[in-house]
Amino acid sequence: MTEPLWGEDERPRLAAFGPVKVRVPAKINLHLGVGPVRADGYHELATVYHAISIYDELTARAADTLVLTMDGEGAGELALDDTNLVIRAARALAEATGLPAHARLHLRKQIPLAGGLAGGSADAAAALVACDALWGTGLAREELAHIAAALGSDVPFLVLGGTALGSGRGETVTPVLASGHQWHWVVAVADGGLSTPAVYRRLDELRENGEAPEPIGAPDEILAALRQRDPNVLAKALVNDMAPAAVSLRPALRDVLAAGDAAGALAGLVSGSGPTCVFLARDAAHAGAVAAALDASGTCREARVAHGPVAGARLI
Ligand code: C5P
Repeated sequence: MTEPLWGEDERPRLAAFGPVKVRVPAKINLHLGVGPVRADGYHELATVYHAISIYDELTARAADTLVLTMDGEGAGELALDDTNLVIRAARALAEATGLPAHARLHLRKQIPLAGGLAGGSADAAAALVACDALWGTGLAREELAHIAAALGSDVPFLVLGGTALGSGRGETVTPVLASGHQWHWVVAVADGGLSTPAVYRRLDELRENGEAPEPIGAPDEILAALRQRDPNVLAKALVNDMAPAAVSLRPALRDVLAAGDAAGALAGLVSGSGPTCVFLARDAAHAGAVAAALDASGTCREARVAHGPVAGARLI
């Protein structure tokens, strides 16, 4: 047990009366530089996170137990017990604040499972923000970020949103100054997910065997490209060290990337650890055309349009 943040009498009493609804985005990595594996088993990252307009929604209601239900993407496949990141997030917040972990939670998922879009981490971020409001914990953003980091490497970014630099194992986030520009993406959702640890392991193997390209290092080029607000410049700067490992585990991703290229996308990229691939478009109309061509190519389950950056987990 960690020490509760509030004494019994000083606890803020700002709890919501009605249901609380939180919307949380998916993330992609515009730059994903993966360093060597560390002593704790994680890899040191230099990444640029970017939140896009594919959302999960979490509704929290007052209750006298903790229970989770869900519908949408992955319903029936995802365990809803104590192993679920939503339940773990609610329990972590309760433990940190000394409050009972009581809430009836309902998750409406649109972010694919195990897709490299940080769907599970997004749901954990949503649970923190929703239970924080439902229980009136009065926690500061930094305290929430601290609890978020313990839940998963991507969770702090999904509380923050926008475009941000990620370092450490990804949990240390610094906002990138917003240029106000909206970027347009096509998200090619695959059939079935990839296990993130398995993709990291394959990357280590490829590197040990001298079969991986040189690590890409610092994200200077992408930061400069973001400032220029020109999609043709951004297209040239998108990079992902994990792509060869994801493609090695799922060779069909080559066909998805080729189909996006043939459809006229400015650039294609494996999202995080995959298997979702994302494509940069010139504008919303171009994104619609690329998505239609990708859908018709039969190389992915579904192609969706999205824009970014968007806000992190927020009450709606
Ligand atoms: O932090 P999170 O629980 O989301 O990470 C899932 C897994 O991904 C870790 O257990 C680890 O195997 C791998 N990982 C890694 N290096 C990172 C982030 C994640 O090796 N920076």
